[in-house]
Amino acid sequence: MHRPVLYQEIIHALSPQRGGYYVDATLGAGGHARGILEASSPDGRLLGLDVDPQALELAREQLSAFSTRAILVRASYTSLSKQLAELGWTAVEGILLDLGVSSMQVDTAERGFSFHADAPLDMRFDPENPLRAVDLVNELDEDELADLLYTYGEEQRARQVARAIVKTRPLYTTRQLAQVVSTATRSGRPGMHPATRTFQALRIAVNGELDALEQVLPQAVAALAEGGRLALISFHSLEDRIVKQYFRRESQDCVCPPRQPVCTCGHRATLHLVNRRPIQPQPAEIQENPRSRSARLRVAVKLAII
Ligand SMILES: C[S@@+](CC[C@H](N)C(=O)[O-])C[C@H]1O[C@@H](n2cnc3c(N)ncnc32)[C@H](O)[C@@H]1O
Repeated sequence: MHRPVLYQEIIHALSPQRGGYYVDATLGAGGHARGILEASSPDGRLLGLDVDPQALELAREQLSAFSTRAILVRASYTSLSKQLAELGWTAVEGILLDLGVSSMQVDTAERGFSFHADAPLDMRFDPENPLRAVDLVNELDEDELADLLYTYGEEQRARQVARAIVKTRPLYTTRQLAQVVSTATRSGRPGMHPATRTFQALRIAVNGELDALEQVLPQAVAALAEGGRLALISFHSLEDRIVKQYFRRESQDCVCPPRQPVCTCGHRATLHLVNRRPIQPQPAEIQENPRSRSARLRVAVKLAII
């Protein structure tokens, strides 16, 4: 069986217990969910969320043996508090967020996530999302496109790429876009396709990924029982920065500006950080699964609120 990224580390980080309540907020094909359900046998419960109906169908098959203990719902993790309230789960022992795109989504050419295949420029996790990559590529003006590529792709040649796109459009397919970007930038970083950053930027914008992450973090912390564990895997520096800053703030008792003599914020730490530096995949995992190379795992434990 192909194990998801940082599989053992995630299961260890969440340390599922029998009788516990867990959330896999990014279910995908259900690989991590299976690990959580196995480790919390015989009666641990799991809520699995995903916005992608194909992922959910796959996870349902993979987790059929656990149907009495796993509740799988097609919903965004931005509605985490609501989903838990509907189940009457007042506090949970562990929450996993494995951000970004799944191997299944990248490998399904017609989803439009990959520059290695030729397919419509789609890139939606949720097929009911009205915004597709093709809309952004063909409708934004040059400055808006350049800003998007710079902000979400950290593309240093954002202006060049935006100019080339605007000059060549309409563009409808992943191959057309990859070609335009490759010609405009001529070369990328060694080992990186020149269109990597453009595709990343469009995907993040189409799915509102950074906003969604900012929305879910406080809901996840609020949902954890005392001693409950939150594990987050991010795949690029933009996501990891949001997680790192949120974790840092939530692990501090005072968040007043530096050099302020007296604390006026009244903030109390809600999290203990298990690892100061993110856990990264071992070279053997990267060799076996090159997509894992940029994965970063951060883990925190909910503190008692006094
Ligand atoms: C990296 S994959 C998760 C893989 C999974 N851990 C496994 O073991 O197979 C990320 C998943 O998150 C889903 N996703 C993205 N944004 C979401 C959101 N806002 N709410 C719920 N799921 C989301 C994607 O559709 C994708 O299936």
